[in-house]
Amino acid sequence: MKNIVILISGRGSNMQAIVEACISEQWPAKIAAVISNKTDAAGLAFAAQHGIQTEVVVSKDFANREAFDSALQKTIDGYAPDLIVLAGFMRILTPAFVDHYAGRMLNIHPSLLPSFVGLATHKQALDAGVKLHGATVHFVTAELDHGPIAAQIAIQVEDDDTEDSLSQRVLEQEHLIYPKVVRQFIEGRIRLVGNRVRISK
Ligand code: GRF
Repeated sequence: MKNIVILISGRGSNMQAIVEACISEQWPAKIAAVISNKTDAAGLAFAAQHGIQTEVVVSKDFANREAFDSALQKTIDGYAPDLIVLAGFMRILTPAFVDHYAGRMLNIHPSLLPSFVGLATHKQALDAGVKLHGATVHFVTAELDHGPIAAQIAIQVEDDDTEDSLSQRVLEQEHLIYPKVVRQFIEGRIRLVGNRVRISK
């Protein structure tokens, strides 16, 4: 059994999709813990209801990024993780933290990277007038929203789309691709070759 640790900061709907897929598809893996940097993250209740260990490491209690990341790393490593899944974890990570989990930490970003890094991606897409928008699952590297891409999914942008409607349709797709990539990783089917991700059948 592989150990997965999921980090959240809020709603946790991607975390829920991964937990549900892990259970219903009987992955050879266990969600060892769901860890939040905020006490009021709504996703914590879902995790606890599913018998998953939850932890909170409150980011605002630490003097600086290094101190927080080092405490977080200690908590994560207590679960001997094979894979760290960032699911709406709203933190910029230090290079030391990212290096420690090199090749075993995934993130989902609500845009077709490398377009629209950072926040407000749906607004960025509308402002740019793109006709295709979507989501990206990528390995985490020190540069924000820039790691090797494992999967992308695209949707059409319609004339009457708003930030809300786009965010809703992209999120539905996120819930499909993120569990799929996590499963591929757990099954040992994902290989990093330089900046490219190879997925075997
Ligand atoms: C998602 O849109 C994800 O792509 C982004 O943050 C949002 C998290 O939503 N990184 P949820 O907490 O998984 O519901």
